[in-house]
Amino acid sequence: MKESVAPDGSRHAIPTHGEALAQFEELRWRAPAFPKTVVVQGLGFVGAAVAAVIAGARDAAGRPLYFVIGTDLATPGSYWKVAKINAGEAPIGSPDAELGALIEDGTRATGNLRATTCEEAYGLADVIVVDLPLDVTGWDGGTGIEIGLATFEAALGAIGRHIRPDTLVVIETTVPPGACEKIAAPILERERRARGIAKPLLLAHAYERVMPGPRYVDSIRRFWRSYSGADARSAAAAGEFLQSFIDTGSFPLWELPNTASSEMAKLMENSYRAVNIAWVHEWTLLAERLGVNLFEVVESVRVRKGTHDNMRYPGFGVGGYCLTKDSLLAQWSAGAMFGADVTLGITLEALRINRRMPLHTFDLALELAGGSLAGKRVLVAGVSYLAEVADTRSSPTEILVDELARAGAEAVVHDPHVRCWPERPGVEMVESLQQGLEAADGLVLAVPHRAYQRIEFTGERLKFVVDAQNVLDDDRAQWLHERGMRVAGVGKGHWRKSGY
Ligand SMILES: NC(=O)c1ccc[n+]([C@@H]2O[C@H](COP(=O)([O-])OP(=O)(O)OC[C@H]3O[C@@H](n4cnc5c(N)ncnc54)[C@H](O)[C@@H]3O)[C@@H](O)[C@H]2O)c1
Repeated sequence: MKESVAPDGSRHAIPTHGEALAQFEELRWRAPAFPKTVVVQGLGFVGAAVAAVIAGARDAAGRPLYFVIGTDLATPGSYWKVAKINAGEAPIGSPDAELGALIEDGTRATGNLRATTCEEAYGLADVIVVDLPLDVTGWDGGTGIEIGLATFEAALGAIGRHIRPDTLVVIETTVPPGACEKIAAPILERERRARGIAKPLLLAHAYERVMPGPRYVDSIRRFWRSYSGADARSAAAAGEFLQSFIDTGSFPLWELPNTASSEMAKLMENSYRAVNIAWVHEWTLLAERLGVNLFEVVESVRVRKGTHDNMRYPGFGVGGYCLTKDSLLAQWSAGAMFGADVTLGITLEALRINRRMPLHTFDLALELAGGSLAGKRVLVAGVSYLAEVADTRSSPTEILVDELARAGAEAVVHDPHVRCWPERPGVEMVESLQQGLEAADGLVLAVPHRAYQRIEFTGERLKFVVDAQNVLDDDRAQWLHERGMRVAGVGKGHWRKSGY
């Protein structure tokens, strides 16, 4: 029997297709008890939360608007998400208690939320929401960009094999501009034609702005949303669907004129952020040489509301699934889908800078260690890509830990939200921050988790601390200095000037 192991260590037997189909029968008879059925394809960081929010939508009388079925794959890497939802648990650990409450309520109290591995679910749907991954592979900083389209294409094929004539497909996945028109629609049309469906396809793009973290649920339900339809009917259907679970009274929808616009909007949003971060890194290096506290400088500039209040702060690096790849989808699309000879020069350079950024933290550690880290045990605090989230994809800690290993250091890691680190399974994770600290020669604060704000520096072994995320204030840095430890901080030129 095949098993799927969740990040929390729980083990789930993967059903055979026959067993899954038998369980699916329950969904077939349960669905008609609700006004409409929504199927969410892909139960990852986005889809699991989207399914929970849609299951929480209510009519004026407080009755559920939808029966929601989440689908994912019967694979060791993914099945646990299906099992967890059916057990009434959020698959993703989150500081937002509302996510768990919505899933528990949907699976137990109202019974309008279920998950399955059966693609037959698409045949029950009035609306299908697509929350699939679309990976960028093989970018080495140069011009070659490869897109992992196979997963996306296969999943759309599954929808097309079962979809009903009037079902609306809403693609939330971040895709290259042109993907809805030139990839998704042709696959869905081909499969529908093969089944004799002649009615025009209802297809829309409504990209997700969900932010896993303390406002996970509200970042879907109470947040602005842009969307577009493949045609006027699709746009109208998508607008009606979105307003049924988003608080559009406070956060009005923005309809863009075509799917390429909404596909591009998502990529531009994330590229803007990536460029902003890279640009601040350049000033970080300058400030450190000049003895300037760049945090205070940025703070003083940010008072200019409307033009400068979004300036980023110095930091450790850029991670996560989105900011590290989304710009590349745009660059790929230019040539591969539109034959356009356009280079997003500033944007791609920003991505290169962001990739190198954790090496600056490494350089600070090397300097504090007196020029060699060989044989030193360095505790890196934080492996997720963002404070208070459990997502470790493309974490900048990977780059630092690899560089520490190359320098002959023994890197160990800690993270209050992560039990195992799938991207670096060979790296030791310490459960107790305190014990980890007492056994380390150096500490790097890589993620500003709240738990690190209260860190207590006990033990005699620790010789240096690099604060890459503005976790320590000046008093604590001074305190460490007075106890004989060397201290550096990214963007903290004033600490360097004080000879810490
Ligand atoms: N993670 C974020 O914070 C975030 C925010 C906004 C937008 N996005 C975008 O949303 C999309 C999804 O991101 P994610 O973080 O949820 O990815 P993810 O990898 O966590 O989840 C995707 C899920 O889709 C499943 N899947 C793959 N093929 C399938 C198929 N044929 N049928 C059913 N399920 C299938 C995978 O097994 C996986 O569980 C991406 O385009 C991403 O860029 C992500």
